[in-house]
Amino acid sequence: MNISSIRKDYIKDQLTEHMAGLDPLAVFGNWLDDAVKSGICEPTAMVLSTISPEGYPSSRVVLLKGLDKGRLLFYTNYTSNKGRHLSGNPRASLLFFWGELERQVRFEGDVTKLPDSDSDEYFISRPYESRIGAMVSRQSTVINGRDELDRNFSELFDKFKANQEDMRRPAYWGGYAFDPKSVEFWQGRANRLHDRLRYRKTGDSWIRERLSP
Ligand SMILES: Cc1cc2nc3c(=O)[nH]c(=O)nc-3n(C[C@H](O)[C@H](O)[C@H](O)COP(=O)(O)O)c2cc1C
Repeated sequence: MNISSIRKDYIKDQLTEHMAGLDPLAVFGNWLDDAVKSGICEPTAMVLSTISPEGYPSSRVVLLKGLDKGRLLFYTNYTSNKGRHLSGNPRASLLFFWGELERQVRFEGDVTKLPDSDSDEYFISRPYESRIGAMVSRQSTVINGRDELDRNFSELFDKFKANQEDMRRPAYWGGYAFDPKSVEFWQGRANRLHDRLRYRKTGDSWIRERLSP
């Protein structure tokens, strides 16, 4: 297959300064709504990139689970690779690509752990099976095989089934809040002349700039 001949023209929408306004989180909220309403697969999926102790960028998908005072919230295992990266270097980027809408959003910013009480609250809200899954997985460690996971899952599933209120969030699992310092919106346009608006935070306000595509 000749992938160099795959081409698509972007014609669905535009992003003007007037449409965008001065608050990037408002634009993001609108675009997220559009993505959810459009029925695309995993509209809240975002690529989180962290930096390893050796200085290599490392990317993976996580799910956006909330917006709070302009911060983006996600949940994971604190002892995973990403958790280790963030404890050494609490800076990250987040990227959303909504292909069907011909849109991309890029964030750069600082990451902090959520308070335990917030992580507890979210943990309790998850389906029983997902909570067991979080308890079973020592995320990003090498394991002997699939059997080990399935066995441990069944054991804990049976153990807590009758008394789910005894379940506690494992201390190694919880949330992070990502505080954006820069946000860029990309809307595909015809002839590769896409719209790019970038917002940079200075103090409490945002500076908006148009970037060449
Ligand atoms: C659609 C999708 C959603 C995911 N959501 C999460 C998530 O919310 N939290 C998480 O820890 N991992 C999530 N993952 C798994 C991560 O991509 C990754 O495999 C895992 O977190 C381990 O990453 P690490 O070894 O870099 O820490 C998701 C993967 C996909 C494809």
